Amino acid sequence: MSYINPVKRAYLALENWFNISFGNDWNPLYHLGTLAFFFFWVIFVSGLYLFIFFDTSLSGAYASVEYMTHEQWYAAGVMRSLHRYASDAVVLTIILHMFREFSLDRYRGFRWFSWITGVPNLWFVVTLGITGYWLVWDELALFVAIKSSQLMDALPFLPASMSRNFLESQINDRFFTLMGFLHLLGQPVFLAFALWIHVKRLSDVSIIAPRGLAIGSFVALLVLSLLAPAVSHEAADLAKTPAVLNIDWFYLNIYPLLDNWSSGEVWVLTIGITVFLMLMPWLPPKKTGPAAEVHLQECNGCEQCAMDCPFDAISVQARTDGARWEHEVVVLEHLCAACGICVGSCHSSNPFRHAREKLVTGIDMPQQPINDIREHVTAAIDSLEGENKIIIFGCDNAIDFAGLKSSNIAVVSYFCAGMIPPTMIEYALKLGADGVFITGCRTGDCYYRHGNRWFDERFAGSRQPILRKRADRRRIHIFRAAETDCKKLRKELAYFEDSLAKLKREAANTGEADHA
Ligand code: HEM
Repeated sequence: MSYINPVKRAYLALENWFNISFGNDWNPLYHLGTLAFFFFWVIFVSGLYLFIFFDTSLSGAYASVEYMTHEQWYAAGVMRSLHRYASDAVVLTIILHMFREFSLDRYRGFRWFSWITGVPNLWFVVTLGITGYWLVWDELALFVAIKSSQLMDALPFLPASMSRNFLESQINDRFFTLMGFLHLLGQPVFLAFALWIHVKRLSDVSIIAPRGLAIGSFVALLVLSLLAPAVSHEAADLAKTPAVLNIDWFYLNIYPLLDNWSSGEVWVLTIGITVFLMLMPWLPPKKTGPAAEVHLQECNGCEQCAMDCPFDAISVQARTDGARWEHEVVVLEHLCAACGICVGSCHSSNPFRHAREKLVTGIDMPQQPINDIREHVTAAIDSLEGENKIIIFGCDNAIDFAGLKSSNIAVVSYFCAGMIPPTMIEYALKLGADGVFITGCRTGDCYYRHGNRWFDERFAGSRQPILRKRADRRRIHIFRAAETDCKKLRKELAYFEDSLAKLKREAANTGEADHA
């Protein structure tokens, strides 16, 4: 088994545990981005309701929140708690999302854009929460307001002393209304725009959490809201120092630092962390193989590869070579992840074509052309001996399958399960393999986002190019697993060998019966 770093190993074990508890489709760790979007919806809807009763003036804000919390606890009170807890859940989800991308090494190379556009989103969410706390105008809000202005004071480009303004109780309704505007409109619109940029780089992004997961999360928030409703501190009073402040550590964690650190030091820490996070994709950089290449003479411009590309790296344009087709595809090299999924999408990647000549397909990976794969498959099957000849088509980013090679088992690696042309499976069976065993990343967690999904749809006949009906499904086995699932892999392979042997016996018995 190849080396797996301890962070990745621990994280994969955690995901495995969640898979067992929730099933792959509802594993929250596979849906952290969509869950964050779901929590935003809860925040948005509950926020709209709160806005109806909220008094945006300095003098009326606290009383209006108190009214909602105590007088109308059954509706506005619950909404307030939902708003609070969904906000905390967003930060938790984002941090887990970030940690996941990091621990599974999905932040470097071609993923740099998603990573560095994610970092500001985290800060935008945190500052949105901070202005939210400000609006309650209780002792905590005053603490936040004073500490925030202390931080602002340390910035050389802000002239007047903001904290002095607070201390001299010059804060007025207009300023408070500005905070309200920021929290209710300015920051959410800005965040929505930043999120759009964050997911723009990817194709076919889902921002809707699976229904069961969304319902489960909502029920959890609701139960929490009923059991521990969000409440305010005493009303803000500049003359009083509050004895105890209940800090929301998801949003307000830097403020207690100001008790011991200067504002400048807190800024250095915050900026330092941000710069470090932004530089991470290049420390050390991850090399992505050469981009896919289009061979126009074999491309009929069907656009399937452009539809399947998980990173929007293939565009379609009018034909330039005078061929009778209307379109051709172009690879945008700077966006290409070199996943090879386009090779699996291309009808021309059919190994039965040009049996005696070099196989050229419409779109290919220069570092592992389809012709080499065909030659490898042919040679590997030729070399197999024994009863059950199996060829493994393995995804490089999932389990390490190289060690399974034996006299009756050959291995061929692909960058992604989505790179496997369905005709290559038929080809292997036709050439003499008794079975084709396909490995890929865990269900719901394809390293290249859509490879497993496209593979399944091609297999089921609902996506082009399809695996034809004549391919005997009983001789094809799909096993999805992470790098840490080696024992399961061996078990599954043994099971497949048994089922192939059984098939052969059944065929032999039927043959004998027919003969008799
Ligand atoms: C408000 C916060 C965020 C939301 C709602 C969010 C949501 C999403 C969504 C929906 C995706 C697409 C997943 C897919 O379809 O494969 C995504 C991808 C990604 N996000 Fe975020 N994200 C947020 C913050 C962050 C942060 C803070 C980071 C890291 C600094 C980050 C890093 C990434 C990366 C690296 C990907 C690419 C995943 C891939 O290519 O497979 N995100 N995010």
